[in-house]
Formats: sequence, structure tokens, C-alpha cells
Amino acid sequence: MNKVVLDAAHFDGKAREWDANPVFRERAERIARAMRARIPLDRTMTALDYGSGTGLLSFPLQDALGRITLMDSSAGMLAVAREKIAAQGLNHMTVRQVDLTADPPADERYDLIYTSMTLHHIPDTDHILRVFHGLLEPGGWLAVADLDREDGSFHGPEVEVHHGFDRAELAARAEAAGFGEVVFDTVFAIDKTKDTGTRRYPVFLMTARRR
Ligand SMILES: C[S@@+](CC[C@H](N)C(=O)[O-])C[C@H]1O[C@@H](n2cnc3c(N)ncnc32)[C@H](O)[C@@H]1O
Repeated sequence: MNKVVLDAAHFDGKAREWDANPVFRERAERIARAMRARIPLDRTMTALDYGSGTGLLSFPLQDALGRITLMDSSAGMLAVAREKIAAQGLNHMTVRQVDLTADPPADERYDLIYTSMTLHHIPDTDHILRVFHGLLEPGGWLAVADLDREDGSFHGPEVEVHHGFDRAELAARAEAAGFGEVVFDTVFAIDKTKDTGTRRYPVFLMTARRR
């Protein structure tokens, strides 16, 4: 079977309709609520939303953070995010088109990095966890929201992505990359109906701190 990679052009094409999906909006709201419960957010923090898309997760957090960079490889997603930031007159949020797997910036540091539904699109999990570690201040927070391990039916067998994550395995990878205090919560579930019936895909939030 020829595998399909969901590249930046794919997400460019989805950008204008992204926020119309009520499941995406509710998922982001629930993740934001769980992050507020786990992480002592404050307005001195500089934050990176990696794979931000249109910023669905950053907008419900913006009043609790100092400066937020919305980073994504899709120019289309970031164009929508930029319009939303301008419409709300927010000057502490900026967008940047960067793929950290190819071009990790050398001299930037954040107090918090969060990433929602993006880790499964990144082939080398260990590498991106090390990049996140390198971009965080000592004691800085990492928050990863993604799918629990599934059988590949979420995207379909032809799509080249991780089929969710086993929590214990991801915790071990995070610890090997230099993170401690790894905690998981179940924050949401996505129901998908196909010919074979309805399947439920839980979404976790993993929080951890840079050692
Ligand atoms: C499933 S969407 C999630 C968007 C947003 N976080 C949300 O929860 O609505 C995945 C996002 O990750 C971005 N992405 C995928 N691979 C990436 C990479 N290597 N670097 C930066 N962004 C990436 C895509 O462009 C897309 O915007």
C-alpha cells in the first residue's frame, strides 16, 4: 500500500475550515482546562505552541501567559492564526513558520512548550522531545496532548503517522530526553463513525518538567 504523508500542503488546504469543526474546538478547550489544572501558568511565562494550527489551544490560554509563539510548518494554518490574533488586537501572540525537525533555533528558550495532536505527525519522537528539552528553561514545562495507542483506524491505514502513543512508553521516552514529573490525564475522547460502527479514541495530556 502506498503511504500518504500529511504534509504542510495538506494542512494548508484544511486551514480555512479548521475552526468550523466543533470537535476540534471542544478538544482544545478541554486540553486548555487540563493544562490550567496541572501547570501553574502565569503572565511572566513565554510559551511555544508547536504545531499550533490556527491557534485553537492558544486562544483559551492567552490571558494566563506572557508571550506566546504559535509555530507551525503550514503557512495556511498560520495565516488563519494571524488573522485571529489581529482581529482580537492581541500583541503578545506571534506566529512563526518553522519545522523544528529540520530547523531547531539555537538560542531561544521558553518556560512552557505545548503541542496538541501534532506529535503523531512527527516521525522521530525521541528527537523532537530532545529539541523541546533544548528549547526549555531548566524547570520549564512540557505539555503534550495526543491520541492514546490505536490500531491505525483514526487516520486510516494508508496514512503515515504514529498510531497514537502508549503512555508508559512515551513517559520513558520523555524521561530519557531529560524530563521528570511526567503525569498523564485523559482529557477528551473523539468518536468516529465508519461503516463498521462508532469507535472512541481517547486523548491524553502528558505534562512534564525539564530537569
Ligand atoms: C492535527 S493538527 C493540530 C493543530 C492544532 N494544534 C489543534 O489542536 O487544533 C497538526 C498540526 O501540526 C502541524 N505540523 C505537522 N508536522 C509539523 C512539523 N514537523 N512542524 C511544525 N508543525 C507541524 C500541522 O501543520 C498542523 O497544523
